[in-house]
Amino acid sequence: MITTRPAEPQDAEAIARIYSLGIAERTATFDTEPRTAADILPKIDASARFPQLVAVDAGGTVLGWVGTSAYRARDCYRGIGEFSIYLDPAARGQGIGKLLLTALVDAARAAGFWKLLSRIFTFNHASLAVCHACGFRDVGAYEKHGKLDGRWLDVVIVERLIPENLT
Ligand SMILES: CC(C)(COP(=O)(O)OP(=O)(O)OC[C@H]1O[C@@H](n2cnc3c(N)ncnc32)[C@H](O)[C@@H]1OP(=O)(O)O)[C@@H](O)C(=O)NCCC(=O)NCCS
Repeated sequence: MITTRPAEPQDAEAIARIYSLGIAERTATFDTEPRTAADILPKIDASARFPQLVAVDAGGTVLGWVGTSAYRARDCYRGIGEFSIYLDPAARGQGIGKLLLTALVDAARAAGFWKLLSRIFTFNHASLAVCHACGFRDVGAYEKHGKLDGRWLDVVIVERLIPENLT
């Protein structure tokens, strides 16, 4: 059985490995440098404010990670979280992305966020599909938002309101 739980410091190595595989695929992020556990640990340390979750199998192996970060530094945006989601390639297409992102919406609600958003390459159909399956809508697309390996790429902005926190 696959379950989700808050990320813990001992997950940093597995998260870095999975994230780095996603970076190497060149279909999920403009980032090109692999991550280490040392890059991930500060995110886990800050997870009371910015939730970080992992999906694990029955044996405790980490299969995927979803995490939030600040959208902007300005106080008026404190309730908006940006998220990233990465699964081990062998764990994709089995509903685990949907499980993790659903759990993240719950964690973001508990942490007081009123909105989650992300920017997704227009050709990342799996990522767009998992967002749509979890109640995100397409806001629009930024054209030529950055270069990856010398190629300009467009990104779709997706957002999901968390109505309980729109007080
Ligand atoms: C994007 C990612 C997290 C999706 O997770 P996943 O576990 O493979 O997706 P799921 O199996 O939960 O599928 C969720 C929905 O998306 C659909 N979907 C999954 N992969 C798809 C694909 N390649 N094309 C179209 N739809 C797809 C599923 O049919 C399902 O729809 P449904 O709920 O309406 O039936 C995963 O593929 C991944 O880690 N990709 C590499 C990293 C990445 O691109 N991250 C996003 C950048 S922020």
